[in-house]
Amino acid sequence: EKGTYPHYMLKEIDEQPLVMRKIIQAYQDINGELAIDSDITAALKEADRVYIVACGTSYHAGLVGKQLIEKLAKIPVEVHVASEFSYNMPLLSEKPLFIFISQSGETADSRSVLVNVKNLGYKALTITNVAGSTLSREADYTLLLHAGPEIAVASTKAYTAQIAVLSILASVTAKVKGIAEEFDLIHELGIVANAMEVLCDSKEEIEKIAYEYLTVTRNCFFIGRSLDNYVGLEGALKLKEISYIQAEGFAGGELKHGTIALIEEGTPVIALATQKNVNLSIRGNVKEVTARGANPCIISMKGLETDEDRFIIPEVHELLTPLISVVPLQLIAYYAALHRDCDVDKPRNLAKSVTVE
Ligand code: F6R
Repeated sequence: EKGTYPHYMLKEIDEQPLVMRKIIQAYQDINGELAIDSDITAALKEADRVYIVACGTSYHAGLVGKQLIEKLAKIPVEVHVASEFSYNMPLLSEKPLFIFISQSGETADSRSVLVNVKNLGYKALTITNVAGSTLSREADYTLLLHAGPEIAVASTKAYTAQIAVLSILASVTAKVKGIAEEFDLIHELGIVANAMEVLCDSKEEIEKIAYEYLTVTRNCFFIGRSLDNYVGLEGALKLKEISYIQAEGFAGGELKHGTIALIEEGTPVIALATQKNVNLSIRGNVKEVTARGANPCIISMKGLETDEDRFIIPEVHELLTPLISVVPLQLIAYYAALHRDCDVDKPRNLAKSVTVE
């Protein structure tokens, strides 16, 4: 099933352009317009607040989803880690709608929240890769990721599929609400798919980065602002999971409030710079950590790049950058794990589907 690939993870990273194209197709109506089941968009239109509940990588996709839903569909969104939601349920709005994001559709922490909110009489939508999974069956509505089976424990194509489906949900809901379209999403997702292909063809260059920065290090930091911050959290999780390097993602603006104390001579700091409005500030953060000895690796987007950048990703719509900036981070984690002789597809202590709370 891996075909010529040495690992499922690499195969699944490479499948991402194809998954984007499948999603664009799966969510088009006969007129070639993006479409979502009208029951679902009606539920969103009616909601005064959306509560996204998820774990791990799916939680990270939810953070990006919040920005998409708020910016496009203009509905306030809260994003919660499922386990924490169970202990401290937030004060809910009058008409909440719950969105559960789960690749497997079997995660016990998420299911426990779903059972609770269903008992309270609230509506729930599950976004999952597995049709007929528990979270799909127990929710009122389901949207599928169309990513194909994800075998590697570290989630890659499911994350980008989740963000793509959330972008479509946000855009179609905006249309149903009569909000003027900000951009042609089908066109922009097509650009994303092409950009992903370019990145998947840049493996040698990315492997060099992983080799140079991560072969011997004990830790690694990811910094970014705005959407880049969320992608940094995901990049750090990928690296932790499969290479066992202690990795943390931080908001650029938070560095000075504590984290910068951790920077030592040679500490790798991977900085993302894909957002125009914070480009100068994140570069300021890179200067601060470099002055304290860090070994910076700036990954920027075309149009925002400078001479000091180590890797430049192709330009896509600024709300969709997480779909492509995550790809070099997935590949960096993959090659770091490989160089450190770790079991890429089956990292220690982890299971693909976490069915205990
Ligand atoms: C990370 C990873 C986990 C899962 C988390 C949620 O690579 O695989 O963090 O994302 O366990 O799983 P699902 O999405 O199946 O609910």
